[in-house]
Amino acid sequence: MALSVFTFLFKDFEFFKLAYDIRNEVFIKEQKVPVEEELDGLDPACIHFLGLYENTPVATARVRYIDKDTWKVERVAVIKEQRSKGFGKEIMENIENEAGKKKVSKLILNSQKNAIDFYKSLGFESLSDEFFYEAGIPHVQMEKILKESQN
Ligand SMILES: CC(C)(COP(=O)(O)OP(=O)(O)OC[C@H]1O[C@@H](n2cnc3c(N)ncnc32)[C@H](O)[C@@H]1OP(=O)(O)O)[C@@H](O)C(=O)NCCC(=O)NCCS
Repeated sequence: MALSVFTFLFKDFEFFKLAYDIRNEVFIKEQKVPVEEELDGLDPACIHFLGLYENTPVATARVRYIDKDTWKVERVAVIKEQRSKGFGKEIMENIENEAGKKKVSKLILNSQKNAIDFYKSLGFESLSDEFFYEAGIPHVQMEKILKESQN
């Protein structure tokens, strides 16, 4: 199933609203993340991704510049009814492609415990066996070094 993915900035507010509707459903309503933690004020500093399936927004993520080589991937979410169809993987592949175009060679993220195997299936590695807590949810730091050919 092909997802049509595009990127935008916070100032493109009509697109941000579509992405935020997904985050609201997934993180705030489903996972009970407090709204003030979900809306952390960093969205204006991010590049946002939105995936449409049959013209309906189903997946989102954002990436944040850390340094010239590194992006941090955050807020990866697929609406519940559309999971396990490859959409999460497609959003992440789009992020890697964009990173490649911008000569970014490393992606880092904090994975929720229940998403570790999802990221491992995409080539990310855990940086520690120790969990830390964000919004009451156990997380682990992961990273993926992007191959030369992607740059
Ligand atoms: C994590 C999430 C984004 C995965 O999206 P998805 O569209 O369901 O995943 P995909 O269908 O693209 O799966 C890609 C691969 O990861 C695997 N996978 C997906 N979710 C998994 C999970 N929770 N545990 C183990 N493996 C998983 C799939 O089996 C698939 O493997 P394959 O390519 O070998 O078949 C989605 O479950 C989600 O939005 N969860 C709630 C929000 C969340 O926890 N986000 C992560 C924050 S760190």
